[in-house]
Amino acid sequence: MNEKIIEALNWRYATKIFDPNKKISQKDWSTLEEALRLAPSSYGLQPWRFIVVQNPEIRKKLRAVAWNQPQVTDASHFVVVTTKDKIDEAFVDSYVQKIATVRGIDKSSLDGFRNSMVGDVVKGPRASKIQHWTQRQAYIAVGFLLETAALLHIDACPMEGLDAAAFDKILKLEGTGWGSVAMVGLGYRSNKDQLASAKKVRFDKSQVIQVID
Ligand SMILES: Cc1cc2nc3c(=O)[nH]c(=O)nc-3n(C[C@H](O)[C@H](O)[C@H](O)COP(=O)(O)O)c2cc1C
Repeated sequence: MNEKIIEALNWRYATKIFDPNKKISQKDWSTLEEALRLAPSSYGLQPWRFIVVQNPEIRKKLRAVAWNQPQVTDASHFVVVTTKDKIDEAFVDSYVQKIATVRGIDKSSLDGFRNSMVGDVVKGPRASKIQHWTQRQAYIAVGFLLETAALLHIDACPMEGLDAAAFDKILKLEGTGWGSVAMVGLGYRSNKDQLASAKKVRFDKSQVIQVID
């Protein structure tokens, strides 16, 4: 298991050229969607939505405002990561209601939890910079997606090279309270992608991991 994980993490790379003819199976795609859905977030609030864009015309439009990156049109599946512009009490309440339903408990027993969330991300000091917070949460989900894809030997490219406002316009997100932050193309590498065989560049372990005994 340990070796398998390290092998997969070395195998994966940010794919630049996808083979447009190779498609992810429905079974694998369902697993990848679950990886997004099951990702953790602060308080469990899940301030994200993932838009899977499979329409070729829309993908073409998105590519034009995403540095013309070919992954946008050529990957088997294409996910736009969106986050909530701000966290309001209604959103917190919908989450509290979900907990009560799923766990079969009285909503009022969650009042303390609800109030601490509201006091923090709705009305607290974090609220004025909430987009930093929501985006941090969303990137955890992206990490889950990338790792799961690697374990399935499915290629992926996380991308931030996009004009978020133009994405929001194309995806009709304006005025919805949700905005684009990142995107991920998933599929299978083309044998024309020379980066597939490039050595992975990472700082040494001693440079990035400090142990305090
Ligand atoms: C948040 C994020 C944004 C990125 N944006 C882009 C992008 O717009 N286009 C691209 O080709 N690669 C993008 N990358 C890929 C990185 O360049 C790549 O992950 C990094 O160089 C490490 O290489 P590796 O993933 O191949 O190991 C992005 C990666 C991350 C994590």
